[in-house]
Amino acid sequence: MNFTHQEVQSLRDQFPVLHQQVNGKDLVYFDNAATSQKPQRVIDCVNHYYSKYNSNIHRGAHSLAAKATDAYEASRQTIADYINAPYETINFVRGVTEGINLVANTWGEANIQEGDEILLTQMEHHANIVPWQMLAERKKAVIRVLPITKEGEWDCSNLKKFINFKTKIVAFNAISNALGTINPIHILVDAAQSVGAITVVDGAQSAPHQLIDVCQWNVDFFTFGGHKMYGPTGIGILYGKKELLDNMPPWQGGGEMIREVDFAETTYNDLPFKFEAGTPNIAGVIGLGEAVRFLQETDVSRIAAHEVHLLNLAEEACQSIEGFKIYGQSKNKAGVLSFLVEGCHAYDLGILLDKMGIATRTGHHCCQPLMKYYGVEGTCRASFAAYNTEEEVEAFIKGLNRAVKMLRG
Ligand code: ALA
Repeated sequence: MNFTHQEVQSLRDQFPVLHQQVNGKDLVYFDNAATSQKPQRVIDCVNHYYSKYNSNIHRGAHSLAAKATDAYEASRQTIADYINAPYETINFVRGVTEGINLVANTWGEANIQEGDEILLTQMEHHANIVPWQMLAERKKAVIRVLPITKEGEWDCSNLKKFINFKTKIVAFNAISNALGTINPIHILVDAAQSVGAITVVDGAQSAPHQLIDVCQWNVDFFTFGGHKMYGPTGIGILYGKKELLDNMPPWQGGGEMIREVDFAETTYNDLPFKFEAGTPNIAGVIGLGEAVRFLQETDVSRIAAHEVHLLNLAEEACQSIEGFKIYGQSKNKAGVLSFLVEGCHAYDLGILLDKMGIATRTGHHCCQPLMKYYGVEGTCRASFAAYNTEEEVEAFIKGLNRAVKMLRG
């Protein structure tokens, strides 16, 4: 069921940053795929930790340390429930970039050999390209790229050509940050399994926009960051199947990830501590747990339906702008509108929209190979969140029409 007008207003009331003017206009925040805003409850939760029980975790004998440890581990459980994963398979990392680097530097380091293949797709974010390139360079492995169609969907018509007995890793996003495509992940999961390859899923855009079930999806690794899902920056998780995580070597060494240290030999801790060396981002973890509770209570399916409703309104209204072109026309899309208007540079559009208080993102969206495929430098992108309104879409359309008129003279 779609949100009522009242429900959206009461959601908006929870986000202090939205209630301001930018360049003399009411802020319209449509840069949610880059980072979402934070509800007061997440801000309060982080504040509360620092002002009432700041302490290191898993170490002290004192009460504050116990409280901090409990809150930290309660977040892990909340997140595990959110993606239907066992508790000990949730590893805290800085975000998707660190999650993917962790897999490349552990599972990849231990298992990839010369001549092995790593399959990516044309629509990957740099965070899901560069760590694999670095691994391939170290190991003399080969990167292969699954093509996409002009609509921005995986082209699986010749999958056998891309997945074969040499394929060891298949890495892809579940939802494209630049196009909004919701990918049919079961196709690559099944194909990877048929040749014994592992799957690594960039879930950066999934976590705030779709129901996630890592067990049912049967993915090997899944990673997301907190800041695009109403949580703090600098914190995220890497999920991995337990038997894979158990058999992987650790990555960073230090406190907490050990069982016993001796100059002759060190033994490592069990999951979920084996991959969490040093004092972690405790406030971030506690804030992320609260962001997940916000998503659970608001209902991520309803949020996604609301965002798609706004996307449909925007896409329809933009059709009347001459020379308007949408990048990403999959039938199954999240609330992302990536576009160009003939005769107008994306950056100029972004700057003019900003003058009207409307925040969008312009550029390559950390997807240069995807932009090259479309033969463009970048696009202008409006991306929606739970708190955006139909009125804001109207303001955006009005602003865009005005900007286009100004740029065309
Ligand atoms: N990757 C983020 C984006 O899509 C920053 O904007």
